[in-house]
Order: sequence, then structure tokens, then C-alpha cells
Amino acid sequence: MKIVKVKDYEEMSQLAAEKVIEVMKRHQHPVLGLATGSTPERTYQILVEKYENNEVSFKHTTTFNLDEYVGLAPTNKFSYHYYMNHFLFDHVDIEKENVFIPNGLAENLEKECEAFEQAIKERGPIHLQLLGVGPNGHIGFNEPGTPFDSRTHVATLEEETRQANSRFFNSIDEVPKFALTMGIGTIMEAEEIILLVSGEHKKEILQQIIESDVTETIPATVLKTHPNATLITDLDI
Ligand code: GLP
Repeated sequence: MKIVKVKDYEEMSQLAAEKVIEVMKRHQHPVLGLATGSTPERTYQILVEKYENNEVSFKHTTTFNLDEYVGLAPTNKFSYHYYMNHFLFDHVDIEKENVFIPNGLAENLEKECEAFEQAIKERGPIHLQLLGVGPNGHIGFNEPGTPFDSRTHVATLEEETRQANSRFFNSIDEVPKFALTMGIGTIMEAEEIILLVSGEHKKEILQQIIESDVTETIPATVLKTHPNATLITDLDI
């Protein structure tokens, strides 16, 4: 895993957006894997700015999001559907039929996971996957202990994760206990992966990712075995 140290959140976001655009220009039908959370917010804003300046078009781009909470409707402002529309999709020329986000309201969640995997198989491979990391090392919603060969599945969220994400909700009680997430095996099939790590509160987990052996206890360490993964961080390492 390549490590790129940048000076601040802005530089990290600029670099990530440039990489996304580079990949979009290289492919006639680009396929992007997208993440949510605070970390990539500015990256998406920059992509919208570049779109508005006619530097990039999403017309032929397909996107797959990493995850979604179980039980939240796309219109729920705490859902990842809502997040993606708000930060990116509502502002660019992407075709809605090319947007794939697991449906947390599906009646049969297992079937939803299978359909999501099937869509990646048909449209993929994902050319570039953006990732953030949770304080416990999770990627997507793959919590510590998730097998490295896991596929898209229903995940039970750890209390630490619900606590960390409760800042987006009115209270911790509203944070769902389950989510649908791309599996680690699914994520690892992306041709290229960019892991964004920003802010002092990620210092400890960043150190662990860098120093630890590859272990299912710290899911993000799996990226060290990927042939084309880059960690971009504004933290001192
Ligand atoms: C959530 C998401 C992850 C994300 C992580 C970190 O749990 N499921 O995909 O990477 O939060 O979020 P943040 O960028 O807000 O720190």
C-alpha cells in the first residue's frame, strides 16, 4: 500500500478528486466505488465544481456505494442514499439507473445483497474504490472479525461504530443496528483503491493500520495486500 502524506484536508480532497477524474477520463464507461461519512464530503464538492466547470461528465459513469443502513428510506436524511444525492448525484449529470446503493428497506435483505453482487459482476470491475475508515478499522461496514473473503452482506454494527456515527443522527437510539455492506472480498476486487484518513481522531487507527500485521481484527489492514491501494492522509506518520 502506497502512503501519500498531504498537508491538510483540502489537499487530501483535491488529490482524491483528481484521481477520480483521471480514472473517469481513462474509461469510456467508468465504474466508481463510493464511500460516505465526513471524510469524502469535500472530495464530492470538488467533483461537483469540476462538473460545473465542464471538466468532467458523469453521463457514462456507474457508481456502487459501499453500504447503507437497514431500515432507512432513501428520503431519510440520515440514509446514505440521501447523503449521496445531497453531496453528489443531485448536482451532476449521472443517470439514476447507473447508481447502485444497497436498499436498506428491501423486504429480503439476503436477496438484496445477492442482487448487488450480481450488478457489480455485470457492470464491474470497479475501476476505483474510495474508502474511509472507522475508528475501529472498519471499511464499509465490515467490522473487526469480518472474513477477508466476505461478499455483500448484512452487518451488525458495533456499539463503537453506532456511537461514532451518532453525530449524524438526533440521538444514538436512532442509529440503526444493522447495515448492508459490500464485503471485504468484494472491495478487494476493485482495480484501484484509495483510503482517505483525516483528522486527529483517526491518528490511533492510522498508526495501527500502518504498524500492524494484516489481520481480520483490523479490517483496513487487508489493503496492504492489494496491488494498487493508496492511503492518503493529512496526519503525521
Ligand atoms: C461509516 C461508513 C464508512 C466510513 C466510516 C468513517 O461507518 N460506513 O464507510 O468510512 O463511517 O466515517 P467518517 O469519514 O465520517 O469518519
